Amino acid sequence: MTVQEQATGRELVDRGVPGAQAGRRPGVRQTPAPGPGELQQTPQEIEGPYYRLGTPQRSNLLEPGDKPEIVLTGRVLNEKGTPIPGAVVSFWSSDAAGNYDMVGYRYNGWVATDEQGRYAVTTIIPGCYEPREAKHIHVKVQGNSRPITTQLYIEGEPGNTDDDFYHPALLVPCTVDENGVKHGTYDFVIKQVTDAENVTPESLAARV
Ligand SMILES: [Fe+2]
Repeated sequence: MTVQEQATGRELVDRGVPGAQAGRRPGVRQTPAPGPGELQQTPQEIEGPYYRLGTPQRSNLLEPGDKPEIVLTGRVLNEKGTPIPGAVVSFWSSDAAGNYDMVGYRYNGWVATDEQGRYAVTTIIPGCYEPREAKHIHVKVQGNSRPITTQLYIEGEPGNTDDDFYHPALLVPCTVDENGVKHGTYDFVIKQVTDAENVTPESLAARV
């Protein structure tokens, strides 16, 4: 059972097979096999050209006139399954027409996980744009050590398995409420620093 299935407590529909470029672009690491008793780490994917520094901390990315379309919740865990409080989870996506804001911070923002390692964000379902086939939300997750960069795909949206970068392990299982809002649950699993990688007493003390 995957972490995502553990989170939702249900079997998932067919997630398809990875796209041609999933996890195989230069600079994107293949996800190593988990050690005994460890969780599979979240696959890392391309950052793309639209990541911006300086985005605001906020859990609601909606712009005036938007209706909520998806609520994403989940946890940030280390590879041993321990929740990571205070992890920074940054989200960025295109707007509904497939355009990224490179002047302001529309559909950009970050949240910090709570004491149980939980995060939540409300946003739109982004549009799609050439050359991508899948609607996707870019994410960076940082615990104690280096951030990982990935992207999430939304269950029930068209084009997922046609996308070159699609990865089944990055598909967010969703339910739909009475207002048509999707609720997706996804746990990120990131490898944390080891003793050998710690360089200061402070970083050692902060280790999960
Ligand atoms: Fe993108």
